[in-house]
Amino acid sequence: MFEQLKTLPQDPILGLMKTFREDTCSNKVDLGVGVYRDEAGNTPIMAAVQQAQQRLLETETTKAYIGPAGAEGFNQLIGQLLLGGNHPALKDGRVNVVQTPGGCGALRMAAEFLKLCKPDTTVWVSTPTWANHIPLLGGANLNIREYPYLDKATLSVEFDAMMACLEQAEAGDVVLLHGCCHNPSGADLDADQWAAITDLVERKGLLPFIDIAYQGLGENLDQDAQGVRLMAERLPEVIVASSCSKNFGLYRERTGALMLISANAQQGQAATSQLLSAIRSHYSMPPSHGAAVVEMILDTPELMQTWQSELEAMCVRILDLRAALSQALAPAGDFSFIERQRGMFSFLGITPQQVQILREEFGIYMLDSSRINIAGLSADTLPLVSEAMREVLGRTE
Ligand code: LMR
Repeated sequence: MFEQLKTLPQDPILGLMKTFREDTCSNKVDLGVGVYRDEAGNTPIMAAVQQAQQRLLETETTKAYIGPAGAEGFNQLIGQLLLGGNHPALKDGRVNVVQTPGGCGALRMAAEFLKLCKPDTTVWVSTPTWANHIPLLGGANLNIREYPYLDKATLSVEFDAMMACLEQAEAGDVVLLHGCCHNPSGADLDADQWAAITDLVERKGLLPFIDIAYQGLGENLDQDAQGVRLMAERLPEVIVASSCSKNFGLYRERTGALMLISANAQQGQAATSQLLSAIRSHYSMPPSHGAAVVEMILDTPELMQTWQSELEAMCVRILDLRAALSQALAPAGDFSFIERQRGMFSFLGITPQQVQILREEFGIYMLDSSRINIAGLSADTLPLVSEAMREVLGRTE
């Protein structure tokens, strides 16, 4: 069975992580994979998480199964975190949340759920989008179509082209949107654009599917969820995949959630039963630990306060790095878009050849597309990176 198999190329993000690890150069800089790093270049366990883990250790009484939906308390609290405590969809009983193995688990189970709703579902994804979106959705055999999102010249959202393209979508098609901190570009929709796209999906009978993996790392917890909240209020059906990897720093604990907003409680119950049956036949039930930590934090006022202030500090650090990088690169061109963008990522807008020079000559690692993880910079490495960039950009062919 195996002898016919060919070795596949590595995943672009995970492959770069491995190449970086294997590089023996002493002053290398990792701007590849999207993990938050502090000034020392570490990805520490957040204090709120440490404290919650300690409490769990003292109070957890069983390791018995938790069931396909995961922990009820976690699901309720994540629904409130995403929508805000007083959201009308919560009051109307239109919200069902299930715990998933990370945001990837949520995305993939949403895809399996969509296949159950309609086997030939078409999902429209932004160009560009996160490298793993297409394998996750395409793996469930959904049809993938792309809509323009980023103007390559200005590295800002080409909203008119996006809207014009989505006019071609047919009723029942799904539109995948990034809730905030667009990965890979950092170019987000503003409030007016969220309102316009909500009008469009309502008028055309499309189903929005929002991936929100960076809530709290763009502006703040509320503002970053503005698109999710608006759509959940205005539209009968919305799917939301969320992740606790970045905002709780729980990457390896695989903690995420899938939220279904339905037209009414009865339809929500039927839809959730289908989703749970899909989960049962894929991985049966999610791992418990990360979600138990999140539940403990969101349910304990002092832990919540600690977590919120840590998250805010992370967010401010990213915003400061954005401002500093765009300023440091100013002599080499207009990089002001870096300061306007949000979240962990921005493109530098350089060629794959220039990316390769930065990697081979300067030990600076970024994706071939020139996506950098802003949170991978520090006061020490930012001058090195901007100097190397200025030099590479200044070279004549
Ligand atoms: C990234 O985009 O770098 C992160 O979301 C990590 C991943 O799994 O790709």
